[in-house]
Amino acid sequence: MSRTILRARLLSYLRAPEHPDDTESFRYIEDGALLIEGGLIRRIGEYSTLDTVGAEVIDHRPHLVMPGFIDTHLHFPQTQVIASWAAELLDWLNDYTFPEEIRYADPELCAQMAGRFLDRLTDHGTTTAVAYASVHAASAEALFAEAHIRNMRLITGKVMMDRNAPEGLCDTAQTSFDESAALIARWHGRGRLGYAITPRFAITSSPAQMEAAQALALAHPDCHIQTHLSENHAEIALACRLYPQAKDYTDIYARYGLLRANSLLGHALHLSDRELSALAEADAKPVFCPTSNLYLGSGLFDDARLREAGLSNAIATDIGGGTSYSMLQTLAEGYKVLQLQGQRMHPYRAFDWITRGNAEALGLADRIGTLEPGSEADLVVLDARATPAMAQRMERARGLVDELFTLQVMGDDRAVLETYIAGNPAKGAR
Ligand code: GUN
Ligand code: ZN
Repeated sequence: MSRTILRARLLSYLRAPEHPDDTESFRYIEDGALLIEGGLIRRIGEYSTLDTVGAEVIDHRPHLVMPGFIDTHLHFPQTQVIASWAAELLDWLNDYTFPEEIRYADPELCAQMAGRFLDRLTDHGTTTAVAYASVHAASAEALFAEAHIRNMRLITGKVMMDRNAPEGLCDTAQTSFDESAALIARWHGRGRLGYAITPRFAITSSPAQMEAAQALALAHPDCHIQTHLSENHAEIALACRLYPQAKDYTDIYARYGLLRANSLLGHALHLSDRELSALAEADAKPVFCPTSNLYLGSGLFDDARLREAGLSNAIATDIGGGTSYSMLQTLAEGYKVLQLQGQRMHPYRAFDWITRGNAEALGLADRIGTLEPGSEADLVVLDARATPAMAQRMERARGLVDELFTLQVMGDDRAVLETYIAGNPAKGAR
C-alpha cells in the first residue's frame, strides 16, 4: 500500500472551542506531517518525528492543511439557478427552481451535471456534501454513481414531492416510497455513500406522502432525513394551513416521525420556544444557510438562541438559494448575520464548525472532520495570501487567528490550493 506524507502547517479540532482563547480545543502543528495510507490518516505529528522511509513526501509548506469542508445542505439540480432574480422563497421556487429541476428527468443531463456539481464542490474545498437531488430517481442515481467513482463521501436522496408543484416535478406517495426504498437498497452504506430520506417540505408533500416518509424513516433509522423548516413567513402560513391539525410547522414533521438526531432541518429561522423545545428533545439539527437566507430575504438565523435551547446547529451553503459554493464565503456571510444580532463568530469556532462541528452534526465525527488517526484523508490546503488583497492584509497578520479570520472573511475557492479526497488530489489534478 502506498504511503504518502503531507508536510504542512496542520490545524485540526478536538472539540468545539468554548471561548476565543480556547487554544486547547485544537491541534496546531507548525511543521506538521500527516501519514496517509489506504485513503486514511494513519499518523499526525511533528514532521521531524515521522518515519519518512518508503513514503512519498508532498511538501505544502507554508500553507495550512485542515480537514476538508463539510456542506450539510445544498441542491444538486440548482447549480444553474444561482443568481436568479426573485422577490422571495415561494416566487423563486415557482418561477425559477421548479422549472429548472424538471430538466433532471433526463438521465444524461443528470450524469453530466453530477460531474460538474462534484467538481464545483472540490474546487471550493468541500469534501463531504449532503445534497438534495431532484424528484427524479435518476438524479440521485447519477449523483451517487459519480461520487462513488470519485470515492467521495456524499449523502443524498431523491426529493419526495407530490403536490403544489408542476406536474413534471411530482411523484406520488407510493412511487416516492418505492423509488426511495430502491435507492436506499442500492446505495446506502455502499463505499462512502449514505441516503437521506428527503421530503422537500410540508408544502409539497401530501399527508399520504408524509406517511410514506415516516415508513421509510422507521425502516431505516440510520438514514439521514432532510427537509426545510420555517424559512419564510408566507411558507410557514401555507404549511400550517395545509396541516391545520398541527400545533405549528415543527409539529407537522414531529407528527410524521421525521424529527430525530439525524434529521437536518434547513433554515429554522422563525421558530417559537415550543418548536425549539420539540427540536431539542429530538436532538434534530437545524442548518444555518446564511447566503441563502440573506439572498432570499428570509431572515436572520438566531444561533445563540437555538444553542441556548440545547440545539447543535450545522451550517451550509444551500446552493442554489445560496450564492456561493464556498464554505469560507458561507462563514463570511454567517459572521455578518450574527453581528447584526449582537453575536460573534470567532474564527476558531468558525473553522471548527465547517469541519468537526458539521461532522458531529451528521454523526460522522469518527470518520471525517478532523485529522485524527483513523479519519478519512479528506483535506484542504489553504492559502490566506491567495489574492493580492488577502496578501496585503496578511502583511499585518498577528498569528493564526488573523490568518483564519482573513480566510473566513476574504476567502473563496482561490484560497483553496488543493483538495484531497480519500488521500488523492482532486483539485489541482484536473
Ligand atoms: N424550500 C423548499 N424547497 C426549497 C429549496 O429548494 N430551496 C430553499 N431555499 N428552500 C426550499
Ligand atoms: Zn434548501
